[in-house]
Amino acid sequence: MSPINSPAELERLRQEILSKRDPKKPCIAICTGTGCLALGCGEVVAAFRQEIQRQGLEGKADIKETGCPGFCEKGTIVVIYPEEICYLQVMPEDVAEIVLQTIIGKKIVDRLLYNDPITNEKAIHVQDIPFYKNQLRLLLGNNTRIDPQNIDDYLALRGYSALAKALFQMTPEQVLEDVKRANLRGRGGGGFPAGRKWETTRNAPGEPKYVIVNCDEGDPGAFMDRALMEGNPHSVLEGLIIGAYAIGSHEGFIYVRQEYPLAVENVSIAISQAEEYGLLGKNILGSGFDFGVKVHRGAGAFVSGESSALMTAIEGRVGEPRPKYIHTAISGIWGRPSNLNNVETWANVPLIINNGADWFSSIGTERSKGTKIFSLVGKVNNTGLVEVPMGISLRDIIYKIGGGIPKGKKFKAVQTGGPSGGCIPEELIDTPVDFDELTKLGSMMGSGGMIVMDEDTCMVDVAKYFITFLTDEACGKCVPCRLGIKQMLELLTNITEGKGDKGDIERLKELAGILRDTSLCALGVTAPNPVLTTLQYFPDEYRAHIEEKRCLACVCKALVSYYIDPSKCQACLICLRNCPAQAISGSKNEIHVIDQTKCTKCGICFEVCPPRFSAVKRTSGEPVPPPPSAEERVLVRAKAKH
Ligand SMILES: Cc1cc2nc3c(=O)[nH]c(=O)nc-3n(C[C@H](O)[C@H](O)[C@H](O)COP(=O)(O)O)c2cc1C
Ligand code: FES
Repeated sequence: MSPINSPAELERLRQEILSKRDPKKPCIAICTGTGCLALGCGEVVAAFRQEIQRQGLEGKADIKETGCPGFCEKGTIVVIYPEEICYLQVMPEDVAEIVLQTIIGKKIVDRLLYNDPITNEKAIHVQDIPFYKNQLRLLLGNNTRIDPQNIDDYLALRGYSALAKALFQMTPEQVLEDVKRANLRGRGGGGFPAGRKWETTRNAPGEPKYVIVNCDEGDPGAFMDRALMEGNPHSVLEGLIIGAYAIGSHEGFIYVRQEYPLAVENVSIAISQAEEYGLLGKNILGSGFDFGVKVHRGAGAFVSGESSALMTAIEGRVGEPRPKYIHTAISGIWGRPSNLNNVETWANVPLIINNGADWFSSIGTERSKGTKIFSLVGKVNNTGLVEVPMGISLRDIIYKIGGGIPKGKKFKAVQTGGPSGGCIPEELIDTPVDFDELTKLGSMMGSGGMIVMDEDTCMVDVAKYFITFLTDEACGKCVPCRLGIKQMLELLTNITEGKGDKGDIERLKELAGILRDTSLCALGVTAPNPVLTTLQYFPDEYRAHIEEKRCLACVCKALVSYYIDPSKCQACLICLRNCPAQAISGSKNEIHVIDQTKCTKCGICFEVCPPRFSAVKRTSGEPVPPPPSAEERVLVRAKAKH
């Protein structure tokens, strides 16, 4: 690689790369993202390499190791270009058949296609799969087309053309104006307008100015940023360089959590390759603009994703927040103006520069533009990363993309915004997803976590789950957050254990107010959200726990009991054999009985009892019926026999 010195040279290089590629040549793109790695995609790649060699197809078919296309539960995912045939759950033993049938024979291997569980129809191409059909994958779409460790793949797809345009056809002010006009809002949580923040840093006195990528991604279950960083690191890098140019910064940091080793590896390779091509470093593309970037590995604490904490960590100190009397955009790393944006925010910048602010703002709602990537998880048929235009309804995400709720269960709520987001109930499922609409409901967009819950979910337990997470993750620096969240947890624990008091709801609300008004950082300020939204939308559940000692969803162990209905028990021994506490007595000829003093309420008996019997019952708030006498136990069985 030799440095490129002008946009014309960049274009020549692109043409040269394209001229060496035959668009008709089969290319087997195998996801090697973290999800598929865990499923053994390495062996699938090795099997393809071996098979291509065995069949004498070297040079006639390419193999590409790519980033994550989002449908990780169906990994390892293999997409075959140019037709874009999509095979799911590919195992090494499927490889020979794929090569023989599809690469050589141009036929489809039916059994590896997506099979719609409702219509039973097969989907051949990526875009035919309902999970993808209703998405708008402006950011994630290229993940299956790019080997993230090969910059040429990114260049072939017009990569770095936005940078060339910004550096040679636009002034920094024009770039800033475009980002402002596009109304790009930060994807890391608060939805603050990126252009306004850039402008603050640009106008702030003091040198050097820093630009930073936030890839801490501490929300449990979220992996949007990881997928972008692993799968298309140059798109983030290009956005960062453009932002640096607009802001007047010459130094940047990419903060990636240590637990994302592949993201660290791929972005580090991307930086070296961009440097070799002269897209980073001194005199970028011959423009006279200098910019260098370093990767900083974070120690993986949720609170370190907060802006001031992250910057303190980059300084080499413990990643804890500090008071922001002066915003980090003005006084950040080492007291210098520092602009921090989320991975996804930066990745949108090249799209805006290439396609224009009008194009970008034509997607989405009045005040929330572009797309947003969500990590769709929980009680939903299709889980994974979904990129959708802002304004799409929660219903469309859950039903059209997510394929609805498994096992025909009823939808109950969806939690958006990560651990300090809120729970949105069924009656609000048609809410359009944008920053302001979600905030109005007491939740937030956050960085894009979306957890779907079904009828079997206890909303008090859900609030307790998130508050437990936040208790563990609060840094302990400020008193309201350190003690307030802990007290909330104590109250919630009492409620779920049947020890709740009448005044507990008021106490929770009072604590929420204190946390919001007095916490040092947004962790404490937003921590009450899961409690407040569940109190607002599911007050009956709190009341039932406190007043009737009843968990309506039969989830809270202390309030639930299991017993066996003697009229239904067929003495099949299944529950007895599966009970880990040996709490069930009975025999082939004897109705089973659960010893309430031994039962740990694990619920295994309830799960394993064959549905045709449904003999194990779960109850809450009601006494367990007395067990049948020894005589009745045999008698009932004998009756059933005759
Ligand atoms: C406790 C806490 C954790 C956060 N974690 C992240 C994170 O992991 N990633 C992120 O981009 N923003 C995170 N944020 C938001 C950042 O403070 C900051 O607002 C964001 O990175 C700015 O980028 P944006 O304007 O592009 O959204 C967190 C905030 C708080 C309070
Ligand atoms: S990691 Fe392979 S599909 Fe997500």
